[in-house]
Amino acid sequence: MENIDRFGRRITYLRLSVTDRCNFRCIYCMPASGVEWRPHADILRYEEIVRIVRAATAIGIRKIRLTGGEPLVREGIVDLVQEISRIPGIDELVMTTNGALLPLYADRLAAAGLDRVNISLDTLRPERFQWITRIGRLEDTLAGLYAAREAGLSPIKLNAVVMRGINDDEVVDLARKTREGFGVRFIEPMPVGKPDTNLKGRFVSGEEIRARIERELGPLIPVRDEGPARVYRISGAPGEIGFITALSAPFCDRCNRMRVTADGKLRPCLLSPVEIDLKGALRAGAGDEEILALLKEGMRRKPYAHGLAHEFPHDRTMSEIGG
Ligand code: 5AD
Ligand code: SF4
Repeated sequence: MENIDRFGRRITYLRLSVTDRCNFRCIYCMPASGVEWRPHADILRYEEIVRIVRAATAIGIRKIRLTGGEPLVREGIVDLVQEISRIPGIDELVMTTNGALLPLYADRLAAAGLDRVNISLDTLRPERFQWITRIGRLEDTLAGLYAAREAGLSPIKLNAVVMRGINDDEVVDLARKTREGFGVRFIEPMPVGKPDTNLKGRFVSGEEIRARIERELGPLIPVRDEGPARVYRISGAPGEIGFITALSAPFCDRCNRMRVTADGKLRPCLLSPVEIDLKGALRAGAGDEEILALLKEGMRRKPYAHGLAHEFPHDRTMSEIGG
């Protein structure tokens, strides 16, 4: 099979960072001063993204996630969604967003063919939200959550990066959101890029979070493993709780994805600096066969990075690689 890599993993999922820009500056993602945005010319154009997605279907990619940065700050994003959703072979088109602009866009995104959204939500407390995101307002993101639900972009997953002494006292409150039908993903902070917050002392393992939730809400019922997430439910709650434990329990054996950075590099693995220059090839006039060959090369060079779990990339921020 074309989409099985040399470690027997079936690669069906491509994450595309559509912009390195963001309207927030989350402490675990960016330095307070922000990052130097790349000039527009460095960022993939929409027609280039569409060509990559078309080629990707030929190596068995079935699911696309648009990430950033914040995808909704990029002009014309609804048109991109529309185009990708029409590509035969793409069964699932989803987006990761901080939610602040969803009240404006949720309806149009759904109409254009977006299936679901994941929304970053690390805290339910307004002051804390502003502190963690440095700019954002909780009420905007909450309004985004409900707008997405109204628009049918469900099941909605809430992504919470859990940091000791910052928001670890809220894991039970966040877990309770599953009673409202939202999924919640608890994410171990990864020391990626160069945010100026030292995340090392802030680390909380998925296991510890699980124990805290079980102490208050009762045993978690295992549901399934889904890519990097181990998924559970609390009794009686429709939403699911997932744990993404990049540090405490690496999941390379279940990895099903590759990434495309905002500036058009195919990145077979988050943890490995290997990048394949799709943008350069596209702009040098590469045909579809050549793009397909580069995607296959990415699949061939996709490493098994278990041993690297403590060497997170510093060459780029999550906003460029795709959070
Ligand atoms: N550690 C873990 N997750 C991160 N994200 C961004 N930076 C980090 C990091 N250092 C993820 C968050 C956020 C998404 C956009 O990217 O889950 O919700
Ligand atoms: Fe923006 Fe997401 Fe990074 Fe926060 S984590 S600064 S919302 S890209």
